Amino acid sequence: MPAASLLITGRGRLLTPQLYDGPMPWAILVRGSVIDWIGARSDAPEADAVADLSEALVTPGLVNAHTHPAFIGDRSDEAAARLAGAPYTGGGILRTVAATRAASDEDLRSAIVGRLRAELAAGTTTVECKSGYGLSTSEELRALRLIAEAAEEVGIGVVRTFLGAHAVPPEAGSMEEYAALIVDEMLPAVVAAGAADFCDAFCDRGFFTQEATERILTAATGLGLGIRMHADQLTRSGGAELAARLGATSADHLEQLDAAGVAALARSRTVATLLPGPAIVMRGGLPPARALLDAGVTVALASDANAGTFGAWGAMPLVIGLGATMLEMTIQEALTAATAGGAAALSQTGAKGVIAVGADADIVAWEAEHEGAFALHLGDVHPAQVFIGGKRSPI
Ligand code: NIG
Ligand code: FE
Repeated sequence: MPAASLLITGRGRLLTPQLYDGPMPWAILVRGSVIDWIGARSDAPEADAVADLSEALVTPGLVNAHTHPAFIGDRSDEAAARLAGAPYTGGGILRTVAATRAASDEDLRSAIVGRLRAELAAGTTTVECKSGYGLSTSEELRALRLIAEAAEEVGIGVVRTFLGAHAVPPEAGSMEEYAALIVDEMLPAVVAAGAADFCDAFCDRGFFTQEATERILTAATGLGLGIRMHADQLTRSGGAELAARLGATSADHLEQLDAAGVAALARSRTVATLLPGPAIVMRGGLPPARALLDAGVTVALASDANAGTFGAWGAMPLVIGLGATMLEMTIQEALTAATAGGAAALSQTGAKGVIAVGADADIVAWEAEHEGAFALHLGDVHPAQVFIGGKRSPI
């Protein structure tokens, strides 16, 4: 039996993320879960069912390429103290680690489910989820397992990242000793369990040095994982150059990046994943989005929702608005960064973040008629309908 087909049609703006400028109304034929054909409604093949999106703005499902959902606890007191002048030492990460370790599987899974539901309700159809608040082999494996279970329950696409190198746990003797544990024990266990697609490391002053980061990410590459980095967030520590040299899929944050760092990324294929949410909450400066785009670097925009520096789940429409208003991107650039750019940052180019033949039919119709709404309504832009793999999601 041939796969069921669905014809999605509309008369509004269709951003693929490029603007569709063919005859109206337009139509997208979905066969099974994949886009099979795009063109004028009048030329469209017959389908088993039709979904009419009317005048709505239609885009690919958003791809949020950087989140930390596997945690318990509330650190808003820390955010308040930081804005009053207290330094960000990362001590707070260990507070979250203690709370997360103490939580039952059920409580941790239900916290993740709530966060992923909020992502889906805001138009994100693929979300990268990091571990990193467990910091022991069993706790990191537990977080990665619960992320998979939660994503399955919510019905959202997930890419899992092992972030054992998020902070040094209290029981470790030193950063070097803990990095050795990651390489010798944690990474092989994560790979044996098939628990992650990527390995990440927080390369910054007070966290992991360039040397430790290189050891960890080189070992991860050797075991067949993709690699990504938290780079040049708090200090200009050379993370971007290291990411480029190691061939990381993505270098994330980059608030402190300078012209040399931009040039290093431009010579590489590493995607620059920019995170305006925590950059604004931390008041530590904004990443040089304009310079990166002008240098030809592929840019992604993601939320970095986490326990301590940006707590908003379902914030991707806001992140697109912030890209345009705070990072000197055009709306078109910001939307592209939150769709095709996010897909590139997750090695999913062509499959996610685009409305194109052969791509997964992850499509959002917005309660808006023009993409300018992402800036004008800053965060107050909501999906009318979300399709994942050609199926309408309950949102
Ligand atoms: O991406 N930069 C490191 N990690 C997180 C913050 C984690 C936390 O404070 O709990 C981030 O901003
Ligand atoms: Fe992060």
